[in-house]
Amino acid sequence: MKKILVTGGLGFIGSHTVVELQNKGFEVVIIDNLSNTTIDVLGQITEITGTKPDFHQIDLRIKNDVKDFFKNNHVDGIIHFAAYKAVGESMGEPLEYYENNFNSLIYLLQEMRDRKLDNFIFSSSCTVYGQADKLPITEEAPVKAAESVYGNTKQVGEEIIKDTSKAHNINAIALRYFNPIGGHPSIKIGELPVGVPQNLIPFITQTAAGMREELSVFGNDYPTKDGTAVRDYIDVVDLARAHIAALRRLIDKKNKKSFEYFNVGSGNGSSVLEIINTFEKVNNIKLNYKIVGRREGDVVVAFADTAIANKELNWKTEISLEKTLETAWKWQLKQTV
Ligand code: WQD
Repeated sequence: MKKILVTGGLGFIGSHTVVELQNKGFEVVIIDNLSNTTIDVLGQITEITGTKPDFHQIDLRIKNDVKDFFKNNHVDGIIHFAAYKAVGESMGEPLEYYENNFNSLIYLLQEMRDRKLDNFIFSSSCTVYGQADKLPITEEAPVKAAESVYGNTKQVGEEIIKDTSKAHNINAIALRYFNPIGGHPSIKIGELPVGVPQNLIPFITQTAAGMREELSVFGNDYPTKDGTAVRDYIDVVDLARAHIAALRRLIDKKNKKSFEYFNVGSGNGSSVLEIINTFEKVNNIKLNYKIVGRREGDVVVAFADTAIANKELNWKTEISLEKTLETAWKWQLKQTV
């Protein structure tokens, strides 16, 4: 049984990926410093799969702790989620973001180099494209100067991996996520935003639950179908399954280069108002919202051309937006009981 290290494995995307790994017969070991999640998620994963993953509370910024972990744990692959990821926060805390997101990545790669470990999957983001000139966005779209510190950590992170992969023959794949949303159909794990949610879906569900007064829609004067910004929302379980597909590609040595990257989205663009209307319809709820000014740094439209990921990873999204928004609401209701 292949053993896979999942860093940030108790986080939103990490926990859903651990469930899919276990479902597919992998042994999982999790490293998480619990800075953006709770230990309860470990038990919730165990409830879903019946198998408790091995867990180590380690801060990947502490080089000796990373070294000690690998002294005692041989792994057949690493899926690296652990990173700070709040775009707005990153602008105010650049040094925290660069220290955490880069040092963690570098210490992991140094252990892979020194111990001749292979198969590295990196959590990247469509933010590397900024506002793409052509839509849908393919992997050929140029990487633009990052508009946030967070986005820069993903861009430079990919460069670090590319150079390391070449120099030390470590096979690696970066998955460039579009907008992950939703939760597990068991309603046992889902998104756990800390404080006031920055992202659209948790703000919608918290507003519907009465935790927030009303949703502010950031601008309706964009050159789009209804004036609100368009994004590619992907169910977190579909996204988790893309990681299994990428891992299999590396384990089965089907990768064509030592470093590859793929756009992981649904391929569909939805506007903010379309999301609101769909959420209201599937959950039979009236959402309280108002139109306000644009949010600085937002791109107008971003949605993926998924042809390469579909073909090369033999993967595509299967969960509908309606189903995802229904699950997101059920998960919110469970949080507010
Ligand atoms: C989506 C749309 C907002 C909140 C970010 C990161 C990206 C990834 C996903 C980490 C936009 C609008 C939002 C609100 C709103 N994160 N909105 N009112 O900005 O596309 O992507 O999160 O990997 O890297 O950049 O996601 O959910 O913040 O916004 O109108 O209260 O919803 O303007 O058009 P975004 P988002």
